[in-house]
Amino acid sequence: MPETVIKSSKEILKPVESELQELNRRLVEEISPKSRALCGILQDIFAAGGKRLRPALSFLFAKALGAEVQEPIYLIAEISELIHTASLVHDDIIDNSLIRRGKPSTNSKFDNAVTVISGDFMFARAAVNLGKLGVNEITALYASVLEDLCDGEIRQVEKKFSTDVDWDYYYSKTYKKTASLFEASCKAVALVLDSSLQEAASEYGKELGLAFQIIDDLLDYKSDTKTLGKPVCSDLREGQITAPILRCLETANNLDREELVGIINKLSTGEMEFDTRVLDLLEATSSIEHCKQMAKNHCQKAIQAIARLENNEAKSALIELAQWVSDQV
Ligand code: IPE
Ligand code: IPE
Ligand code: MG
Ligand code: MG
Repeated sequence: MPETVIKSSKEILKPVESELQELNRRLVEEISPKSRALCGILQDIFAAGGKRLRPALSFLFAKALGAEVQEPIYLIAEISELIHTASLVHDDIIDNSLIRRGKPSTNSKFDNAVTVISGDFMFARAAVNLGKLGVNEITALYASVLEDLCDGEIRQVEKKFSTDVDWDYYYSKTYKKTASLFEASCKAVALVLDSSLQEAASEYGKELGLAFQIIDDLLDYKSDTKTLGKPVCSDLREGQITAPILRCLETANNLDREELVGIINKLSTGEMEFDTRVLDLLEATSSIEHCKQMAKNHCQKAIQAIARLENNEAKSALIELAQWVSDQV
């Protein structure tokens, strides 16, 4: 039987490789704040890599709609990557995280003041791009993405170490902190090129974004720092009750549930760093498998959402990308 080869995201994104290269050039060479110090930090951040998934979605959508990637699409791609990267720079301060994209995080190299300002500058530059684009509907779309991001992050802060959370909470904050930007990266392109496809684009982006964050939550327990380029087993230490923990709390027997709640309480008081018993409890409740299936269902919905687009290389890449997301675990 032929071996199933799992492609990397880079291979899947081949149809938009040259557009991604141009985007990287623009991010490194053109986002130059007047401040020399800020300029160095921003170049450092963008040169560190990252998968550039959100811009890739915009480029792929444009091509899937049969269009060439022109200036408005580059502006949209840049807006999404700027907002995303700024949110990571701020998120690493919030999460006390010292590694990002396989390199020391900005907050590990500079003080928090400079780190916050460099993120703010990226948000500001995204706003400048929205001005250049000059499409009210897209400005409103990204304005609500920014609102969602703040709302999603504050919910996480408010619910730190709280075991009194449910799937409504999880889905609402996951949409806001992650899926909303995925959705906008696709929808904005449809608004420019063919607004009759905006719902399909939104649905694809939203479902992919939900799946992406669920899988990211699983990778925190199942991957390693080298592969991910960021710390692992850090969500619970930081008080984040993510999808697998939520599932475990919901399905463990009373004794195991009490043990898990006890561990979370100890982590919250700093009595403990991380207890590998958590991994046993996740295993005993098949929580990773269950959440992987949840992510798969979202990926399936994403694929269904674009069923009526004409078949071409870019559409195939969007489908493969959805399969790749859930295949990572
Ligand atoms: C990380 O996103 C943050 C989440 C939404 C889970 P990515 O995994 O897309 O980060 P980079 O840009 O590739 O570093
Ligand atoms: C994603 O959340 C960050 C934002 C969307 C702002 P995470 O905290 O899970 O991201 P990572 O795991 O640090 O990349
Ligand atoms: Mg984080
Ligand atoms: Mg994470």
